[in-house]
Amino acid sequence: MAETNGGKSEGGKAEGGRAEEKKNFRSDVPMETPGFFLRGSAHLGWGMKNRLSRIFNPETGRTVMLAFDHGYIMGPTSGIERVDLDIPPLMPHVDCLMCTRGALRSCIPPETNKPVVLRSSTGATILKELSDEVIGVTVEDAVRINASAITAQVYIGGEHERDTLDNLAYLINEGNRYGIPTLGVTAVGRDMVRDSRYLGLACRVVAELGCHFVKTYYCEPGFDEVVAGCPVPIVIAGGKKLPELDAMTMAYRAIDQGALGVDMGRNIFCADDPVAMVRAVRSIVHENAKPEEAYDLYNTLRSEREDSD
Ligand code: R5P
Repeated sequence: MAETNGGKSEGGKAEGGRAEEKKNFRSDVPMETPGFFLRGSAHLGWGMKNRLSRIFNPETGRTVMLAFDHGYIMGPTSGIERVDLDIPPLMPHVDCLMCTRGALRSCIPPETNKPVVLRSSTGATILKELSDEVIGVTVEDAVRINASAITAQVYIGGEHERDTLDNLAYLINEGNRYGIPTLGVTAVGRDMVRDSRYLGLACRVVAELGCHFVKTYYCEPGFDEVVAGCPVPIVIAGGKKLPELDAMTMAYRAIDQGALGVDMGRNIFCADDPVAMVRAVRSIVHENAKPEEAYDLYNTLRSEREDSD
C-alpha cells in the first residue's frame, strides 16, 4: 500500500538564493505504508497503533485536530477566553483535541470520546523567552487522563535547542514505556525563517529522535519536500489568524502536498463563525474539498446560523 497523495514539484531546488547541495526528495513518489495505514508506523506496538488510529481516521488516513493549548503560554487567548463555552460546540466536528490537562479537567466533559493530545511542557510564557521550557506533566498523569498522545515543542537552532530536544526525548522514552505516541512540534524562534530548508531540517530531526508524528508550519515553496524528508505523519499548525479563505487555501495546499491533517487553533476559534470554519476545514481534510468549495460551505453554514439566531 502507498499513500494516495504527494507533492508535485521536483526535489533539489536551492532555496532563498543559496547555492546548496542538490537533494533528491522524489516527492512525487508516495511513501509505501505496508501493514498499517500511517507512514513510518508499521513497526509500532498494538497500543501505539490503536492510539494513532484514534487520532487519525483510518478511513481517510487524516485528522482534524483542534489546538486550544494556547493558554499555557498566553493566558486567556482571544477566542478561547472561556474554554468551557468556546470549545464544546466545536468538538463534534473534530477528530482530536490538543490541550493542557488543566483545561481538560476543568472545562471538557469526560463523557467525550474524542482522543486527547496532551500538552506536556511548561516553563515559559509570552512575557519571557518561549523556548526555555521543561516537561511539566508526568506520563503517568497522561495515562490517568487517558491521553492518546503527549507533546512538547522543539526550537531547532534556538538558544535552548538542546533542552527542548531533551524534553522531547524524555517524552518519547516515557511514552514508549506505556505505548503512548509523542507529537513533536517544531516551533520557530524569532530569528528563524519558516522556509522548507529550516522546517525540513526540524521535522526530520524530531522524526529521527523517535516522534510518532510531527506538527509544523506550512511553507511555500517546498512543503512537499518537507513531507517527503519526514518519515512519519505531518500535521500543520494554523498560526496567526488569517482571512478564512486564506486559511482554507493553506490547509488545502498542505494536504495536497502530503500533510495528513491540521492541528489548528486560532484560525478556527477566532473565525467569525468557528463552527462553520471547522466544518469547512474538515471538508478539505477528509473530503478533498477545494478551498473555494470549502468557503462556499462556510458561507452557507454561516448564513443558516445567522437566519436561525
Ligand atoms: C501554541 O501555543 C500551541 O502549540 C498551538 O497548539 C499551536 O500553535 C497551534 O495553534 P495555532 O493554529 O493557533 O497556531
